[in-house]
Amino acid sequence: MVQLNKGKFQGRDFISLNDFTAEDISQMIDVAVELKAETKAGIAHQVLQGKTLAMIFTKSSTRTRVAFEVGIYQLGGCGLFLSSRDIQLGRGEPIEDTARVLSRMVNGIMIRTFSHQEVLDLASNSSVPVINGLSDYLHPSQVLADLMTIKESKGKIKGLKLTYIGDGNNVANSLLLGGTKMGMNIVIASPQGYQPVPEIMEMARKNAAISGGSALVLEDPWKAAEDADILYTDVWASMGQEEESEQRKKVFAAYQINQELLNVAHSEAIVMHCLPAHKGEEITAEVMEGPQSVVFEEAENRLHAHKAIMALVM
Ligand code: CP
Ligand code: NVA
Repeated sequence: MVQLNKGKFQGRDFISLNDFTAEDISQMIDVAVELKAETKAGIAHQVLQGKTLAMIFTKSSTRTRVAFEVGIYQLGGCGLFLSSRDIQLGRGEPIEDTARVLSRMVNGIMIRTFSHQEVLDLASNSSVPVINGLSDYLHPSQVLADLMTIKESKGKIKGLKLTYIGDGNNVANSLLLGGTKMGMNIVIASPQGYQPVPEIMEMARKNAAISGGSALVLEDPWKAAEDADILYTDVWASMGQEEESEQRKKVFAAYQINQELLNVAHSEAIVMHCLPAHKGEEITAEVMEGPQSVVFEEAENRLHAHKAIMALVM
């Protein structure tokens, strides 16, 4: 039965992978892998019995919502889906007040929203752990599941080359932070003006200096993809950027994971995408449905990874 050494985790927020050590991230992945195997073997883990997670969404979600909601149910607790369309936050109640009210009623709060500052403000005003379910800046719960998927597929994480093709967005930022914490070589291929901000690159390079990994930004997707162990992409226009999507189709036209690009990666490279995908834009259907794609394993691992986060911090 999985051992939860909650000591270092209990009560902590999960806002950025940079707030955790490589050892912490490894522990979260190990717990996720064990929870996955034991759940599939029919073992129940009622470790959050009687506990409630409030889940605030100001943006759409399929995977994150279902992973957290099913996950807490499987752990014996209860998830409360709070759309900003329905709660007073959406009518202007301050996040600070929302934080203090929810903290008195629930045991953890997950938030998916636009502004990263809102996630930070929620956390600083909450007495219960806050979990970042995506902001415009970071998507750490995604990347924890991604690292778990890489470990399952490749048997290791450290030393692998992950090339991310496309927009230097929230997913790219979290891959840079989480990947370099774990000693990976992260290469981002993005056009000028869409590359990760200097602050993220600085944090990633600091991590890499400790872990033995590296962080690099290139403009050329072909050069970036050479010998990659993992090719990763995400949509060209994220939630909130819908009005830029036509212009972005032009900017990112050369930033597609297709069979030709996959051919320059390592012959056993895996292909990842956080989903939802726009097939024919950032990834071809051929590659996404092909033998090297692990995108649906990656999606499933959201459930197991999020159970690990909740079981450890709540
Ligand atoms: N990858 C991801 O976060 O998916 P959802 O937007 O469906 O939650
Ligand atoms: N970068 C995407 C990720 C969706 C899971 C977005 O923010 O819309």
